Formats: sequence, C-alpha cells, structure tokens
Amino acid sequence: MSGLIPKHFIEELIARVDLVELIGSRVPLKKHGREYKACCPFHGEKTPSFTVVPEKNFYHCFGCGEHGNALGFLMKHDNLGFIEAIEELADRVGVEVPREQTPGQRPPPSDALFATLEKAAGFYRNELMNTSRGKDYFKSRGISGETAIKFGLGYAPDAWDSLLKLLGGNDADRARLLQVGLIIERDNRSGHYDRFRDRVMFPIRDARGRTLGFGGRVLDKGEPKYMNSPETELFHKGRELYGLYEARQATRTLARLLIVEGYMDVVRLHQAGITYAVATLGTATTPEHLARVFRICNEVTFCFDGDRAGRAAAWKALENSLSQVREGRQIRFLFLPEGHDPDSLVGEEGREAFEARIKQAMPLSEYFIQHLSSQVDTRSIDGRASLGEMARPLLERIPAGIFRELLVDEVAKVVGLSRDRVSLVRGATPAEPSQAAQTERPRWSGTPTHRASAGRRNLVRQAIHLLVHYPEIADKVVLNPALVTLERPGVPLLIELIEELGRRPCANTGALLERWRDRPDVEHLAKLAAQECLVDAAGAAKDLAGAVQHLGEEAARLRTDLLSKKSGLSEAEKAELQGLLARKLPVGHGA
Ligand code: GTP
Ligand code: MN
Repeated sequence: MSGLIPKHFIEELIARVDLVELIGSRVPLKKHGREYKACCPFHGEKTPSFTVVPEKNFYHCFGCGEHGNALGFLMKHDNLGFIEAIEELADRVGVEVPREQTPGQRPPPSDALFATLEKAAGFYRNELMNTSRGKDYFKSRGISGETAIKFGLGYAPDAWDSLLKLLGGNDADRARLLQVGLIIERDNRSGHYDRFRDRVMFPIRDARGRTLGFGGRVLDKGEPKYMNSPETELFHKGRELYGLYEARQATRTLARLLIVEGYMDVVRLHQAGITYAVATLGTATTPEHLARVFRICNEVTFCFDGDRAGRAAAWKALENSLSQVREGRQIRFLFLPEGHDPDSLVGEEGREAFEARIKQAMPLSEYFIQHLSSQVDTRSIDGRASLGEMARPLLERIPAGIFRELLVDEVAKVVGLSRDRVSLVRGATPAEPSQAAQTERPRWSGTPTHRASAGRRNLVRQAIHLLVHYPEIADKVVLNPALVTLERPGVPLLIELIEELGRRPCANTGALLERWRDRPDVEHLAKLAAQECLVDAAGAAKDLAGAVQHLGEEAARLRTDLLSKKSGLSEAEKAELQGLLARKLPVGHGA
C-alpha cells in the first residue's frame, strides 16, 4: 500500500492516457480542427475557450489560464489528491500502480503510525462524550454535538498517563506513541507521560481524513493556550491546513477557501455554514500552503483579526503569497473589526453578514499599495521614492505576467513616476554572478540586465517554447559548452531541458510537465505550453537548432572577450580561452 510511486510510471501514464476521452467523459467536448473545445469547467463562460490538444496530452483555457495534463485535470476537476488521481488514471488505462521499496532508506510512514493516531483520536472522542468537562467547555463556546462529530473533537483527560496506559502496552507501542508525539520521555528517562492533559482536542487530518496530529486547547487557564503535536514524519505544520478535509467533505468542488487563524474559528465558521474555512496551525501561511490551496481552487481570502497582531500577520501572508500570484487566481484580505475574530463575529452577525464581508474583501493589489503607502509620507518626494524602493523587491517575487505589469503600473502611479523608473529593469545590478540565478525565485523571473538583451531573451524563450511543445526534438540539439556562461534569464532552464531530455526523452508536453512537476520552473513551462506553437515538429527542430546555435556563439564571443581582456588568467581560464579561440570558425562560416 505505501511506498513511493516511481516517477517514470507516472510520466508514462500521463503520456498514454487518452485525454480527450478522460475530459470528454466529464465535459462535453466539440472537435475543432486538431483540437477539442468546451466551455471551461473551471470558470463560468458562455463561449468555449477551454481547449484540449490531443497530440500533446495537454489542456488549457484561454479564459482563465487554467492548464495542465490528465493528472492535473483530475485533481482539479474531481477534487482528488495526487495519489488518488494517479490511481484513477491507472484504473482507466488498466494497470497496477507499482510502489518502490527503497532499500537502505527509512521505510515510508507506516500504517502503524496512522493506526496509533487513529486510536488516540478515538480515545479522545470517547472521553469527550463520556465525561462532562470537555463537553461543557464546547457547549459554553456554542459548539453543537453534530459539529463535534464532524470534526472528531475530543478531550484529553486530566492525568499523566491515561493514553499511555491505554495504548502503550509494550515497548513497540510506546515507541510509536513517542514517534507521533503523543507521549514525552521523562527527563531522567525513567518512563513516559502523556503530552496532552486536560485539553480539548482538535484532530488535524490529511486530505484522506487520516489523523496526522492534534491541536489541544486548555479549558480555562494555563499555558500555552494551544499546544500542537510536534513535527513528525507524518505531520508538517507548514503544509497542513486545519479544516481542509472537512471542507472537501462538505463541498465536492470547492470554489473558494477562507484562511483564518484559529481552530475554533474554523469549527465555528463551518457550523455557521461557511464550510470553506481552513486555518494554518498557528504558523504563518507558507508558499507551500498556498500552492496547495491553489491546486484546489482559484479564490482565496485571508481573514485576520483587526488588531495589530492581525495586521502584521496579514502582511506576512501577503509577502508569502507573491510567488503564487498568477492570472486567474484571486487573493484577497479581510480585516475584521477590532476586538473580533471570525468565531465571535459569525456568532454575533451570522453567515450572511459574514459572507458579505468576504465578498467585499480587499484585493491583494489594493492591500499592497495601501500598506506601503501607510509606511511613508506619500506627499513628499523622499517618501514616494522609498515607497518605490520597498515595492521593487516585492514586485520581483511575482512571476512575470499581466498581474505584475498591472501592479507595477499602480505603484508607478502612486509614486508619480513613469513605469520605467519603477519597473524591475532598473533594480537589477549588472552582471551578477550566475549564483544569483539559483535563488528561490523561478529562474525565469530574473530580469534582463539591460535593454539590449531583450531580443536575446526572446531567443531563449523561443527555444524553451519549442522544447515544451516538442520535447522529442531535444536530442538533435548540439550544445555549445560556452552557453553556461551566458548570464541571461532562462538560460539555465534551457540547458537543463536540453540535457535532461537528451538523456531521457519525453513523449509529449503533458509528460514533460509531469517530469517538471516539483521543479521551480513548472509554472513557467505550463504557461508556454498554453501558448500556441505555429510550426510543426520538423520546423521546430530547425528553429531550435538555429536559436541554440546563435545563443552558443554569442556566449562564446562574450566569454572570449572577457577572458582576453582579463589579466592574470588562471590555468583553467587559459585552457578555456584556448579552447574558445580554437573553436572559432573562419569568417563567413554561415551554416
Ligand atoms: P480561542 O481562544 O479558543 O477562541 O482560540 P483562538 O483561535 O481565537 O485563539 P488565538 O487567536 O489566540 O490563536 C489563534 C491560533 O494561534 C490558534 O488556533 C492556535 O493555532 C495558535 N495559538 C494560539 N495560542 C497559541 C499558543 O500558546 N501556542 C501555540 N503553539 N499556538 C497558539
Ligand atoms: Mn477566538
């Protein structure tokens, strides 16, 4: 059951599956030349802009920008997790999903740990039902029995060893309890005690409803107010969202999510009918959270308390969201009145009024400008200049695209400068060492160092575009070794593509995107895949060869110039220069 699914299997599955049949069974497709069209299932529209390209095993929507392969479609449309979607595809094709046993490595999170957590959750649930202390607490906070059942709420008794006694019968059992963080070893190693005592318990579940860990709240006084299971093999706080499982249970296709701060907020909102509320586990929202959320829906509203801590958390959430901004995604911020949290407010004013607030939440762009403007005196030139300075690094985190351009325009307007002066071009320092290309940002979002490079940048982009559409042509390309020295956005990605696809060919666009799924450039590649390619495979191969040759020659020329002007060359550099000069072809080499 457990074990990793080999990547090559997933890729082959995606290359093999009949995407037209798969999507056609869910969305009425109409043939349109070599493609198929439909009204997009992911956003409301009257004229079809959702397109399936059979020979590429890839779909995209010109309207909302949604795109992907068979796996992405199933996850998004049928609301499936990654593994579930693979299993569904394998069923369609009629193959077994193989699992890798990784010898020598730690065994994958075992079902025994999940079983331990489930038993503990059952124990806490029973304690809630059968004693009054926890029940009275939830009652006093307006939580119904039905809600408690939905969320599997529980109570951990006021004793040092109730769980230990029940589930820690032998060494192996205790080792598992320890591993999932439910018991703690005594300082003098003379035994263990229960981590959660006299607390109401919130089980944190994964997408399939399995308990990964717990949050526990004190009933009256005591520190800390909330305590979470520690990070374990199964439980990563920066990834999980409390309430996501319950939200997906409530609505098959989630259109939006509301991200709040607290466990009680989630439970109370669900009870009020706002079943798309989730919470981070007492941490800031991470880009990983958001990447996950945006695999499920396109609309996210952050909700924060109106106090100072809430506002600080909101700005942090904005900063962490920037890398996830895309066309077609909506990120908004809702600030509650001072002194309220979602729990108290929805209790006071009810679902409709609360949802009206969600509808009116502030778009990310507006909050961005408003927050920065509040930091400076926008009436003075100095103030506006420093606003521009603060904005630039933040704008750079946004992937290149229409949204970023619009925001640059907005900032330019506030700062009172032409967009060129705000735009990212100005901020870049010339000739950064190539290390700089390896930061967290997608390498593509690097900015050209000067305007003259714009045409060349297009050449890089063109080459990548061709490769995305025809991955099979990569092995015909000859790479000039000097190309790695060319410091230009996209060059590392281009080289990566050519080398990787040369080594292990990819059948089509869908399979290519699968192989890049976890790499930082995947979104960029998907975007290029969604852009039409006007040449056929033979034309693409020719264009690609031309582009790569041109770039290689330019790289060689620049490198030769640089090394010949430099004094005190190292031995390696001398050899490199000799090599470069030797490769130089006679004038007028043409072909
Ligand atoms: P109630 O007081 O029960 O209404 O909870 P709340 O969710 O309104 O509490 P608060 O706004 O204080 O906290 C929001 C979230 O931050 C909680 O749900 C926890 O995830 C987290 N949190 C709060 N206090 C603590 C704490 O003392 N330790 C840890 N680790 N997390 C906390
Ligand atoms: Mn609260």
